[in-house]
Amino acid sequence: MFDEVAQNYDRTNSLLSFGQDRRWRRRMVNALALEPGMKVADIAAGTAVSTKELAATGAWCVAADFSLGMLRAGAATVSQSMVAADALALPFAGSAFDAVTISFGLRNVVDTAGALREFARVTRPGGQLLVCEFSQPYRPFRWGYHFHLRRILPVIAAKFSSSPEAYSYLRESIGAWPDQKKLAATIAAAGWTDVTWRNMTFGVVALHHAVRTGEPAGPAIPLADGQG
Ligand SMILES: C[S@@+](CC[C@H](N)C(=O)[O-])C[C@H]1O[C@@H](n2cnc3c(N)ncnc32)[C@H](O)[C@@H]1O
Repeated sequence: MFDEVAQNYDRTNSLLSFGQDRRWRRRMVNALALEPGMKVADIAAGTAVSTKELAATGAWCVAADFSLGMLRAGAATVSQSMVAADALALPFAGSAFDAVTISFGLRNVVDTAGALREFARVTRPGGQLLVCEFSQPYRPFRWGYHFHLRRILPVIAAKFSSSPEAYSYLRESIGAWPDQKKLAATIAAAGWTDVTWRNMTFGVVALHHAVRTGEPAGPAIPLADGQG
């Protein structure tokens, strides 16, 4: 599905969010307080639009996604490393990163808790997690938001996306996604502590931040016979 929407993905996103996506990404980067030299894995990075924003801080960033179509669509504009990888089995060593980020991606991964545990594995103790995802807007705005999802989003998607059906999935997956508090509990149960969240655009999007505690993770990926 993501291969199919890859070509017009960034432009359609900006249209659907009325340009808010750029502001959400900037706030995501600010929430991490990254420093030059830090290592960041941006998971489900798609065209790496989020990775570029993270790398502007001077941190070393890698974009990982399992859609080659998305990675290819962004490749020409990106100087960061790109890796074809499944969020549930990342090809990275344990404790390799100072931070793991995932923007508008966790909702799409089939096993949310499994992905969060995998992110904890590749993050060093004391390292950070940042999840930027659609969430539950506050009550007075909820109706308008759901009207946008039901009525406006399909019209924009039909005009500008290469696969309008994928945007029906978007609407359904947002509807089925846990609210801020429930997602925080899932994160806390997956090897993270100090979980906090911040709402953006009346709660349409939430940034969940957490810290990795405990001992460094064990060996990352078992080596196949004969390797190492
Ligand atoms: C909505 S896009 C988000 C892209 C980008 N992070 C952004 O902020 O625009 C969701 C991405 O999640 C990726 N994805 C979904 N499940 C995945 C998985 N298990 N492993 C890696 N990537 C995954 C899709 O390929 C897609 O590129």
